[in-house]
Amino acid sequence: MTQTTPRPLPTGYAAALTDFTRRYPDYAAHAHLDALRATDYARLDRTGHVYLDYTGGGLYAESQLRKHHELLANNVFGNPHSQNPTSLAMTHLVEEARAYVLHFFNADPAEYTVIFTPNASGALKLVGESYPFAPGGRYALLYDNHNSVNGIREFARARGAAVSYIPVSLPDLRAPTPRVLAVLATADRAQPNLFAFPAQSNFSGVQHPLEWAEAAHAHGWDVLLDGAAFTPTNRLDLSRVKPDFVPLSFYKIFGYPTGVGALLVRHHALAKLRRPWFAGGTITITSVQGEGWHSLIPGAAGFEDGTVNYLNLPAVEIGLRHIEAIGIDAIHARVMALTGWLLEQMTALAHSSGAPLVHIFGPTQTEARGGTIAFTLRDPTGEDFDFRRIEAAAAERLISLRTGCFCNPGDGEVAHSLTRAEMACYFTGAPPSSFYEFYDLLHVATGKTPSTLRISLGVASNFADVYAFVGFLREFCDRRAADLPWAPEPTLAAVRQRDAA
Ligand SMILES: Cc1ncc(COP(=O)(O)O)c(C=O)c1O
Repeated sequence: MTQTTPRPLPTGYAAALTDFTRRYPDYAAHAHLDALRATDYARLDRTGHVYLDYTGGGLYAESQLRKHHELLANNVFGNPHSQNPTSLAMTHLVEEARAYVLHFFNADPAEYTVIFTPNASGALKLVGESYPFAPGGRYALLYDNHNSVNGIREFARARGAAVSYIPVSLPDLRAPTPRVLAVLATADRAQPNLFAFPAQSNFSGVQHPLEWAEAAHAHGWDVLLDGAAFTPTNRLDLSRVKPDFVPLSFYKIFGYPTGVGALLVRHHALAKLRRPWFAGGTITITSVQGEGWHSLIPGAAGFEDGTVNYLNLPAVEIGLRHIEAIGIDAIHARVMALTGWLLEQMTALAHSSGAPLVHIFGPTQTEARGGTIAFTLRDPTGEDFDFRRIEAAAAERLISLRTGCFCNPGDGEVAHSLTRAEMACYFTGAPPSSFYEFYDLLHVATGKTPSTLRISLGVASNFADVYAFVGFLREFCDRRAADLPWAPEPTLAAVRQRDAA
């Protein structure tokens, strides 16, 4: 465990805070989050960490751990779905957690149900493997999607459905609504059609219009709204917007526990799904004497393979109640105030030549975006700093940010203007063994630097975090990318390709 002394407040901090709170009154209006940071999230300041990776994983409050631990320490719980007392007690809590998830997202139980999964990817796989893709039908999705949404295309292709990607465009990495509607309008309504998009991009922070869900329904599509990056800092009200499938991961919302996600699904959409197998816990009966004989339990249970993560499910309700007590709108308001300030400051940072230091991929204003910012740092000559050097320098200051492509190759390809032809050569012959190797190979071959830095804010973020981060960025003003002290070893493959050129 890292134990350091809290960082001292830098010079200029007090004046900057006063200016920030005057211009972003929403921040101070939710000062109860400052109190919480000092208690429930005190470990951040106690250890000196600046945590800026909430889209990677949310942070838990200490009170969540205590409540969960007390529950486990003071009760005897058995595997649910049996009639013995310890099992019944557990079944009761699992069903309570399920109901609470619906309540949190304002989803009518007559319309939606909750399937517990290991994570958002598990929820997405359930949809992919069970959706009745067929020739004549379609799978349409944005370029801007997590790989776990991209991966559904393999199920679609295997079953003969056409896959239609809808590009996003620079500089904002958005897809204009007419472009989306043009694709949606071409569906054969007699066939199964699935349209997938993220409510918020895990790459750029862009929030795509939730109204697309209704437009898609009107054109005969089922809608998969990826809620993983959106739900931690935004209200998702399923009485107002009614996607058919909403995958999410709870650790992204309240940090603990990991290993539990959900698929919120409309009953009528669930009825369309055809499971490719059955497992313990999902069937009423089967027989070994008749190979085709098994009957799936109706509803969510038919999709929860084996034993659910039962001891952790009560912690989901504890986490949701924690977020409700703070107020998701308060979290949203704070995060957006901090994001607004960050965008202003980051875009203003410049070298003495006047050349900007920060190049943001995605919107530089707060409209229709969340608190995730993707960017690269450019030196005065226009060369990008190697992301590994920035990451290493940030780590020295206990700043947690994320680098790479964030499992969102579509936004990455558009952000870095990578063409299909440039990507093609990595899919013939032996593939690169890692993202780093791909990065080095592509850099040598094209001079492009397909890597991105990403920061993201969440429930416990405060002004001190973003102030420290901007101070860290300022250190790179007037520095040359080639002069940074730590140089990553070029991979063998990169050296071979360079030598062969
Ligand atoms: C938008 C989005 N969708 C899906 C996922 C997959 O989530 P998990 O890794 O928890 O399955 C993520 C993870 O970062 C994400 O940001």
